[in-house]
Amino acid sequence: MTAPSSIVVLTGAGVSAESGVDTFRDKGGIWSKADYREVATPEGFARNPAKVHEFYNLRRRRLVGIRPNAAHFALARLEAAFGGAFLLVTQNVDSLHEAAGSRKLIHMHGRHDSALCMHCGQRSPWTGDMSLETPCPVCEATGGVRPDVVWFGEMPYRMDEIYRALRACDLFVSIGTSGTVYPAAQSVRDAQAAGARTVELNLEPSEKADAFDEAFHGPATEIVPAFVGRLLSP
Ligand code: OAD
Repeated sequence: MTAPSSIVVLTGAGVSAESGVDTFRDKGGIWSKADYREVATPEGFARNPAKVHEFYNLRRRRLVGIRPNAAHFALARLEAAFGGAFLLVTQNVDSLHEAAGSRKLIHMHGRHDSALCMHCGQRSPWTGDMSLETPCPVCEATGGVRPDVVWFGEMPYRMDEIYRALRACDLFVSIGTSGTVYPAAQSVRDAQAAGARTVELNLEPSEKADAFDEAFHGPATEIVPAFVGRLLSP
């Protein structure tokens, strides 16, 4: 195998699972307890904003005090040590990649520590709860502050940059994602069309398992550091 010159890594909830963050579709996952149509769509927010705020307030509170795990640290190490182009794209709304030291990072589904004002369109750093009464820190209007996360039916963030990196990469690595949510799930095909080698690192074969050239199955804290180690010392 020739050494890669441009790497794109896509992560999902599985990379944070061993830090104590719930996944979505595993047994007991978030979507087994909540109906995504009610809490993760613009229509659900329009119907019952208080319920949506409650759902995200709870999730934001559950992230307090969590720490990055060996998989997050391994990816930060890869970014620092790799000499070529590198982009980490995460579907996760936690900040564990940053906490581990990753910098070339896109949160395509937004982040929990940010608020978006639907009145003025500005983003503000956020730590506490949100409600309909919360004033926007920028325009001070109430009723417009929402979690800065991408809901079903909305366009993920910074897709132009993501497509550009996928079209230029020669190694694509998917970690801890079920491969069920588009457009993230399409990334393996986009990378393959660009001629990249594609690798899946997941607890079990994902929905998109057949699309990958290679796969390693097991807990992210074991298989990600091992994979990064092999990549950095071939
Ligand atoms: P899912 O819950 O759909 O998938 C998590 C994947 O991680 C599964 O394939 C698990 O097998 C795997 N997994 C679980 N524990 C693991 C571990 N310790 N090590 C490695 N893999 C593990 O989560 P995502 O694919 O991230 O979007 O979900 C994608 C999107 O769907 C989310 O960003 C969210 C959700 O609805 C929005 O809310 C817009």
